[in-house]
Amino acid sequence: GAGVIRRERFAGGPARSFLSSLAADERIFAADLAVDRAHVVMLAEQGIIGDDEAADILAALDDVEAEGHDALPDGEDVHEAVESAVVDRVGPDGGKMHTARSRNDEVAACIRYRLREDLLAAVEATLALREALLDAAADEAETVMPGFTHRQFAQPTTAGHFLASYAGALERDTARLLDVYDRTNQSPLGGAAFAGTPFDVDRERTADMLGFDGVVENSTDASSARDFLAETCAALATLATTLSGLATDGIEGAKDGYLVLSDDYSSTSSIMPQKKNPDTLELVRAAAGDAVGSLTGLLTTLKGLPRAYNRDLQRATPHAWEAVDSVTEATEVAAGAVATAEWDAEACAADAGAGFSTATGVADALAMTGVPFRTAHELVATAAADTPNGADTDALAANLDAAAADVLGEPLDSFVSREELDSVLDPAGSVAARDSRGGPAPDALAESLAR
Ligand code: ARG
Repeated sequence: GAGVIRRERFAGGPARSFLSSLAADERIFAADLAVDRAHVVMLAEQGIIGDDEAADILAALDDVEAEGHDALPDGEDVHEAVESAVVDRVGPDGGKMHTARSRNDEVAACIRYRLREDLLAAVEATLALREALLDAAADEAETVMPGFTHRQFAQPTTAGHFLASYAGALERDTARLLDVYDRTNQSPLGGAAFAGTPFDVDRERTADMLGFDGVVENSTDASSARDFLAETCAALATLATTLSGLATDGIEGAKDGYLVLSDDYSSTSSIMPQKKNPDTLELVRAAAGDAVGSLTGLLTTLKGLPRAYNRDLQRATPHAWEAVDSVTEATEVAAGAVATAEWDAEACAADAGAGFSTATGVADALAMTGVPFRTAHELVATAAADTPNGADTDALAANLDAAAADVLGEPLDSFVSREELDSVLDPAGSVAARDSRGGPAPDALAESLAR
């Protein structure tokens, strides 16, 4: 009967399950049926197989679809199993389905077809997170909070500006996924094993039926290329890295009392009854490990592979599925956590001026009178070093006065009035003054958000 040598001599013996990707191929079961249908229709249109034969094969494929992946006969992979299921239903003519193709171009087409859907789901998740970030940014545009560099109090900012900074990163993460989508959305079908086919196939027609934007030109490249998987994992690892930073900031913000996570995105302790832990954000942060692991595993598998098809490629694909599942889910959870977190404006304001974090404003005010910025910086640094942490504005003003007399030969108020000093030292005043394009002043942020 049909396929005896393949089914019996090369059945795999003791290595059968090692060779088989049938279980993992469930993910591309629907893709395989779509690819089979398009190929069969094209074969019939080109007169390569008869219309009646094509109709029988298409009817068998409907039946295989209705029975589902779990009902497939045994096979090395979904492609072989579906073909066997078709032959079981149609008889030997069912074997005409595999005319002018190879599993090599077939599997590449199936992966690309399925991955498109997964990439779009990842893109949708990034859009939902951006929306959550931008909504919260608009709500918290006037929530003055401390900003940090090196984890030290640095300059006051707003929760809105901070959130919008992540929306900016997410915008690029979205764009990278869409770029990957364009290169993924090319059809390898018709490349056959690697060396093309003598049949008069219409590659553009199958590409068109399957919604691909074009064909992978070179038949060897068509069946060998997996760089679309590598850039998928790279884009996801980059997105996951953005998420991991957002998660850490959320975890730290919860610890400092600047924000309160919704109970839905928190866990408790099995022993410490008072605890509310940011576990979801910790798991979001860990998704970067999954994605980087997938990228590393994938590139290690692909490195040094010769053209054209090598079975190593069977182990390449799952890395991309794992990365896209993990990172898409983490992105969705991050969106929920951002949308439901409550910012504590009082707690934020209480720390906004900590550690003389408005000191840069004093140096800026001096520099605006013509004092070289470096001189102003030194002067304020001297006064700040002489003022104990937690001292009031009067103590700082006195030390600024002394430093001005020392460095500039005149008291501070010859340059900056006490009124102006109070204004730049005030965290809200400090933020309001930082109205350069893209800056945290509420007006500037409103313009950025509109843009
Ligand atoms: N199952 C294989 C994969 O996932 C495709 C089969 C190609 N096999 C072959 N012996 N040419 O890559």
